[in-house]
Amino acid sequence: MTQSFSFSLNATDGKARTGVISTPRGDIRTPAFMPVGTAATVKAMMPESVAATGADILLGNTYHLMLRPTAERIANLGGLHKFMNWDKPILTDSGGFQVMSLSDLRKMSEKGVTFRSHIDGSKHELTPERSMEIQKLLGSDIVMCFDECPALPADRTRINESMQMSMRWAQRSRDAFGDRPGYALFGIQQGGLEEDLRAESAAALRDIEFDGYAVGGLAVGEGQEAMFNVLDFAPDQLPTDKPRYLMGVGKPDDIVGAVKRGIDMMDCVLPSRSGRTGQIFTRHGVLNIKNARHADDPRPLDENCGCPACRNYSRAYLHHVFRAQEMISGMLLTWHNLHYFQDIMQGMRDAIATGSFAAWEADFHAGRAQGDI
Ligand code: GUN
Ligand code: ZN
Repeated sequence: MTQSFSFSLNATDGKARTGVISTPRGDIRTPAFMPVGTAATVKAMMPESVAATGADILLGNTYHLMLRPTAERIANLGGLHKFMNWDKPILTDSGGFQVMSLSDLRKMSEKGVTFRSHIDGSKHELTPERSMEIQKLLGSDIVMCFDECPALPADRTRINESMQMSMRWAQRSRDAFGDRPGYALFGIQQGGLEEDLRAESAAALRDIEFDGYAVGGLAVGEGQEAMFNVLDFAPDQLPTDKPRYLMGVGKPDDIVGAVKRGIDMMDCVLPSRSGRTGQIFTRHGVLNIKNARHADDPRPLDENCGCPACRNYSRAYLHHVFRAQEMISGMLLTWHNLHYFQDIMQGMRDAIATGSFAAWEADFHAGRAQGDI
């Protein structure tokens, strides 16, 4: 019998939670950070290296994969896990959010969205039903509802209408997904920055019943303070016994603030994208390896980091290969950033388990307050 999808909480500390999501493809320790593997690769990383950073799950994208190489081709080749050589869980986003930011000539209706590919201009349609079909063809373990997310700032009427449509799409997603033991479907809460709209959205999703609940529509330009204001109430509106996933977040201090407020899962391109542009996250803050001051520096990026970039290479070398645009630069810097993000998650999981989250958080902020790194 296939093992089913389940979530169990091991400990809480304030609103912060630690637990395990069990899937037939393996356990996901929470709070979890999901590296982004948009186009069936976490850019610059071998899958085994992504796993070595401590990632239990990655995120893939319906939008990109349906356009290239297509979901049908991936299904014919045995599914996304086999295609990209990653056998742990994969969560896929449903496409609507990426359509709005990437595609050309979008047309939205109650039925769904039609758009032109940003790659070759070809015409496509995404609906809740088609998104569920694509995510099934990919073999995604955690499927996201098809939703719409208005760019902020937007007026309340627009946010309300959009949220109501996303809730109708959530029901259609649920109906189209059907009953698939071992696979999970997550709802996505919308409602902008408004507490009552968020509550209404949460109630609609709870009525439909999902295996997990995402907080969507944040990190879209509102700023950290506004996002934390929403996170002060949004997770409490969702069931306590199901995973809560904050979509598209974020910087290290965003992640810590989200976990403190009751979030269990997150994803962001930041560590991988920044790795390719030379922006490095460390426990002491951010540095840019491009900076001339690193050219003669024999020290590692972070003397306390266990990643290959820090164990085996100097800042001077990493500066050199970045400036020379050598491929190893993106590889090593991405590895470091992903390793650091996973270190933060492990630190939080341990702190929550031992009831010391507040002390851990104080250390986290103190480490970053040090001046020159
Ligand atoms: N990624 C970041 N925010 C969102 C959102 O609101 N919806 C979806 N589907 N993906 C996201
Ligand atoms: Zn490192």
